[in-house]
Amino acid sequence: MNKTLTIALPKGRLGEDALKLLKEIGYAKNVDMNSRQLIFEDIKNQMTYMIVKPVDVITYVSQGVADIGIIGKDNILEEEPDVYELLDLGFGRCKFCIAGFPNQILNKQDQILKVATKYPTVTKRYFKSKNQKIEIIKLNGSVELAPLVGLSDVILDIVETGNTLKANGLVVLEEIDDISAKLIVNRSSYRFKAQKTNHLVTELKTLKRSSI
Ligand code: PRP
Repeated sequence: MNKTLTIALPKGRLGEDALKLLKEIGYAKNVDMNSRQLIFEDIKNQMTYMIVKPVDVITYVSQGVADIGIIGKDNILEEEPDVYELLDLGFGRCKFCIAGFPNQILNKQDQILKVATKYPTVTKRYFKSKNQKIEIIKLNGSVELAPLVGLSDVILDIVETGNTLKANGLVVLEEIDDISAKLIVNRSSYRFKAQKTNHLVTELKTLKRSSI
């Protein structure tokens, strides 16, 4: 059986924070996020690292191409993947929020509220729980633009510093969920590569404890 543990790391800031953590516990020494290389093998330690787009981490782990992935809770809530969520990594902290102009009313009773978002599943779930009819405008980025140009009434998005909202004259209307980076594991990998997976998780937990 293949004993190599494969980790999918998200490109961008989340991935850089994840890599920093892995390097601190002696993993991923040969991984360079600034290069164009997408796969890094550490033959001696039987580890492989793959650099993927954040939204694709879940696909790689669900399909078993990667055993482990590091990804934001926002993507997990949106995709609802059938994987184990083993550890909160303590970085990438932000909040799922509804945002819009300061005077925007969220409860429009029988009227339809237009919501722009990168997260249609989360949006549907949230407004269903509020009994508010909505029309979802699915965007892939720069979501804050939508209310400014009349494409939507509000947005559902992640807010970290709040700078993007502020720069565009928008405010948080409702906070929905806390988000942070999670370590996810493919179900069958967890069964068949338990020792290696648990070793990594224990090392990360120990590091987290020592940095509190
Ligand atoms: C995310 C998010 C917000 C912004 C929030 O976008 O969708 O737009 O960051 O961060 P802030 O509260 O610190 O301003 P991202 O930077 O991923 O770019 P995108 O608009 O292309 O999705």
